[in-house]
Amino acid sequence: MTLDVHSIKRLVESDRVHRRVYTDPALLELDRLFGRAWLLLGHASQVARPGDFVTTRMGRESVIVARHTDDAIHVLVNRCAHRGARVCDAARGHARQLVCPYHGWTYATDGALCAVPLPDGYDPPVVGTPEHALTRVPRVDSYRGFIFASLAARGPSLHDVLGPLRASFDDPPRRPEGRTLRA
Ligand code: FES
Repeated sequence: MTLDVHSIKRLVESDRVHRRVYTDPALLELDRLFGRAWLLLGHASQVARPGDFVTTRMGRESVIVARHTDDAIHVLVNRCAHRGARVCDAARGHARQLVCPYHGWTYATDGALCAVPLPDGYDPPVVGTPEHALTRVPRVDSYRGFIFASLAARGPSLHDVLGPLRASFDDPPRRPEGRTLRA
């Protein structure tokens, strides 16, 4: 089978996944590539105000790029810490909090779990526990306001990977206006 977008999509159905997803070297290469590389996710001007967010993908992983109340930009895996549902379907938006549509777990724009309906039903309590936050993509960095992230916790820095390519981002006419990312 040719590896185009449509043939890859056909491998994953609502109730089953073709075994090729786990065995095909070409598909595994997607994970190796997107799981390690610094990926360009957007520009800080797209999330200019606290509460602004956009969703995008890092390989097969859906992620939310959000500016938090302290002005920091976070990249969050778009998967609820409760049962793994997708938290945010919108391509972009503005929200004080991100609410999972399934059972209403509510997250701050830094990924922290803020509230759950009927919190007494959880034993032990889940709100305020780091393991029940949205997973943060481990490395986020920026250059000239362009936001990059890597799913790998360790590896070459963005600065080193961009190398001479940085000149492409230094060219002002190609750069959208906007504030730069604060760590
Ligand atoms: S799956 Fe998100 S609140 Fe249950």
